Amino acid sequence: MKTSIYILGIESSCDDTSASIICDGKVLSNVVANQEVHAKYGGVVPELASRAHQQNIVPVVQQALSKAKITKKDLSAIAFTRGPGLMGSLLVGTSFAKSLALGLEIPLIAVNHMQGHILAHFIKDEEAKNPSFPFLCLTISGGHTQIVKVSDVFDMEILGETIDDAVGEAFDKSAKILGLPYPGGPLIDKYAQLGNPKAYQFTKPKVGDLDFSFSGLKTGILYFIQKQQRINPSFIEENLNDICASIQYTIVEILIEKLKNAVKQTGIKQIAIAGGVSANSAIRKRLELAAKHWGWSTYIPKFEYTTDNAAMIAITGYLKYLKNDFSEISVTAKARLKVTE
Ligand code: KG4
Ligand code: ZN
Repeated sequence: MKTSIYILGIESSCDDTSASIICDGKVLSNVVANQEVHAKYGGVVPELASRAHQQNIVPVVQQALSKAKITKKDLSAIAFTRGPGLMGSLLVGTSFAKSLALGLEIPLIAVNHMQGHILAHFIKDEEAKNPSFPFLCLTISGGHTQIVKVSDVFDMEILGETIDDAVGEAFDKSAKILGLPYPGGPLIDKYAQLGNPKAYQFTKPKVGDLDFSFSGLKTGILYFIQKQQRINPSFIEENLNDICASIQYTIVEILIEKLKNAVKQTGIKQIAIAGGVSANSAIRKRLELAAKHWGWSTYIPKFEYTTDNAAMIAITGYLKYLKNDFSEISVTAKARLKVTE
């Protein structure tokens, strides 16, 4: 009888401490501890993040094991996020994973966080279909905005990316201008649902066909808000829903336009989205519309696998396990790591 493969995934690249157990590609548990501590600072404070990871990691892993109804002795291997991310945060997950793997005498698997976001699409789930190769993945998070051509599980190529801010930053910085707490992306999404997306127009950036730029948009939004506030100091409060809807509409249109260019250039009509911003309700709806109009097959991750989570690290670990792609115990965390590395 074939024995099952149990992978513990550990994610600690930014401000979420997460642990997940995957058995033969199916998620048994996916525990995420968010760090509330950053909200009042308007962004992630690296020093506070690594301290919170240290406090969270043991209980989060224990919870993941008990929710999965297994013990650490059942584990086949431990996968952890090697990078990219904040060095202090990465080090907590890396050293924890290494010592546990050493103690249990089981293999250690280093995972690229960006590959994890994409490969979350290969989690076995009755409600979701896995993409077939090749497909294009629009990876949109707080740190990245890329169009990646995925030819095979670990064969990826960046076709285009942001030349400045990531799209998550565009959401979060716009929210900050509006006086909303960090992370503002989900709040813009929430208010936008009650607003008119065509109420205000913002200029779209001019960059290469498959590249992105969001810093100009952010400045445009700032100047627009400042100008309106000089006329009406309560402009934000009175029009928050419309402002959020208009910002979100502009960002989503930019993303769809770039995807359209990528489909045109590559002829690939299999489109996936991944990363924290793929939780956005407007991009999810807009992509479904695009699929209908242009005959695309779209892959939209389950909500819990969009923002940072360890299930995406565990599934990537599982796929590496099947290839016997293990890491030496001397492996180190890397703050900068391309999706292709
Ligand atoms: O992938 P992720 O959890 O962390 C990184 O690897 O960066 O992405 C976090 C980003 C943040 O910028 C957050 O504001 C954004 O994803 N985000 C959203 C939504 N949910 C999360 N942006 C827009 N709409 C959402 N619903
Ligand atoms: Zn991420």
